Amino acid sequence: MTATHAITILPGDGVGPEVAIAARAALDAIGERFNRRFVYETALIGGAAIDAAGESLPLATIEACRRAEAIFLGAVGGPKWEGGKVRPEQGLLGLRKTLGLFANVRPMRIYDALITQSPLKREYVEGVDFVMFRELTGGSYFGAKQRDAEKASDSCDYSVTEIERITHMAFAAARARRGKVTSVDKANVLETSRLWREVVTRLHAERYSDVKLEHALVDSTAMQLIRNPRGFDVILTENMFGDILSDEASVLGGSIGMAPSASLGAGGPGLYEPVHGSAPDIAGRDICNPIGAILSAALMLRYGLKLETEAATIEAAVQAAIQQGARTADLGGELGCRAMTAWIVENIERAEPTQQTVQMHWA
Ligand code: IPM
Ligand code: MG
Repeated sequence: MTATHAITILPGDGVGPEVAIAARAALDAIGERFNRRFVYETALIGGAAIDAAGESLPLATIEACRRAEAIFLGAVGGPKWEGGKVRPEQGLLGLRKTLGLFANVRPMRIYDALITQSPLKREYVEGVDFVMFRELTGGSYFGAKQRDAEKASDSCDYSVTEIERITHMAFAAARARRGKVTSVDKANVLETSRLWREVVTRLHAERYSDVKLEHALVDSTAMQLIRNPRGFDVILTENMFGDILSDEASVLGGSIGMAPSASLGAGGPGLYEPVHGSAPDIAGRDICNPIGAILSAALMLRYGLKLETEAATIEAAVQAAIQQGARTADLGGELGCRAMTAWIVENIERAEPTQQTVQMHWA
């Protein structure tokens, strides 16, 4: 019997629909090879939903997500909807909140064959391999907002529980990796950061003293990501800091187009999306890089469906394609999104996962 998995796809805006097709092609190739069937349901989010339904997160979309075993999202946003009453981004933020996806996991790994694409010199980036745990449903993204003609404010709130649950994940992940957590805050200025530091320190002492813990300020971390990116194993941080640092981190390997992410919660379906965003300037031209989306599909298989071999096969196929010289425009090459996808799919048909991928345990 073929195992069936219900996947909801939210293509969204800009290059979102193009990379969603790529992710789906990768999943279908996995299905063929490993005798699994992925059944897709597509729903509206972001600007596409505003155009079609007048709101960025229609109820039907939430329902389609709740029915799924896992959700893939392309991207949301674009200049077309700027200044409008509803913003496309509200759809994504609303979905994260509604589904309780409090942990955003962003792995960062450098491919040897792409080191020359990195803005940093080889000796700084060779062997970089870390993962960021970004808190995703708290902080200034979701605090009270106020606005009048003279003044605006976004309040930043964190509760002990919100800090604890993501901290557990980061420590558990570190245990399965190289055993180090860097907790990033701004404890010299912000009260929420002082609470953050206290909670992380306490959980470390209570349950994770075998893991090495260091606290770092966010400004200094922004510098260390450039000066010594190899020094990081697991980075744990709050919502806004994680948003900023993960864009910085994503270019170490040469292009933000390669970076995948997983947004996970307590139990329901997770949301898997490339980090790159909607890239409206190159949308619809078949030139974007599908790798961030395809690697997000791999994270879906690993965390959402618990199919480690299948996930590692996608990762091995991407690595093989890169080694063989496949390059999209952002990597200085000429392949379009579709051609790059086809190249990776061909590799999925025969790739053998070589490197032992890091298995994460959510204790
Ligand atoms: C991200 C994005 C989102 C965020 C936007 C699109 C709301 O930048 O996932 O990093 O700020 O979280
Ligand atoms: Mg961002």
